[in-house]
Amino acid sequence: MEYPTQIQADLLFQEYPVPKVLLSHSEEVSSNCGLIGAQITEAGTQLDLELLRIGGFLHDIGRWKYDFEKGVPPEQDFHEYETGRLLAELGYLDFGNLIQRHALGGLTLEETRILGYPKVVDLMPNTIEAKIISVADKIRPQRGILTLSDKIRDYQTSERMHRRYFNKLPGLLEITVVRVTAIWQELEELGMKKFQ
Ligand SMILES: [Fe+2]
Repeated sequence: MEYPTQIQADLLFQEYPVPKVLLSHSEEVSSNCGLIGAQITEAGTQLDLELLRIGGFLHDIGRWKYDFEKGVPPEQDFHEYETGRLLAELGYLDFGNLIQRHALGGLTLEETRILGYPKVVDLMPNTIEAKIISVADKIRPQRGILTLSDKIRDYQTSERMHRRYFNKLPGLLEITVVRVTAIWQELEELGMKKFQ
């Protein structure tokens, strides 16, 4: 699969700028991806660690268009879709398709339709790499989120998450808990260690 180099990825963030805080989030997710990828590789499943690092780095680039700091309300934030769309436009169709699948524990075609995405799109993490990016995105030490139960509590209490997703689709919070739990457990079985 073709994907940008780190230098190209840095240039992309110059061309499609996002707020500073999101850049440090991107760096953190990139490093989480490398860490999880290395743990799983060490446990016997070979993975392209550079793909994971660059994927983690660019997963939220769609926020250039949908960032709340630029006044986009949470219920109109469809940045995962924009990440995939932009990377496809730049010639990285498969890579964009892989890294866009990080919303919640995934969203089906039908769910993105109900949530009002600009285009109906399959955002279910369907590969180990997509699942690693999804979990790596959820680890937020600064917000006290390191474990699966921390993340579930965040879903239950975050007003932004309710405005973006859960208020629009009854039952989505419950199914999200089931999906995120399954992804987290699958990666742990493959060798992912606890974050601390
Ligand atoms: Fe993210």
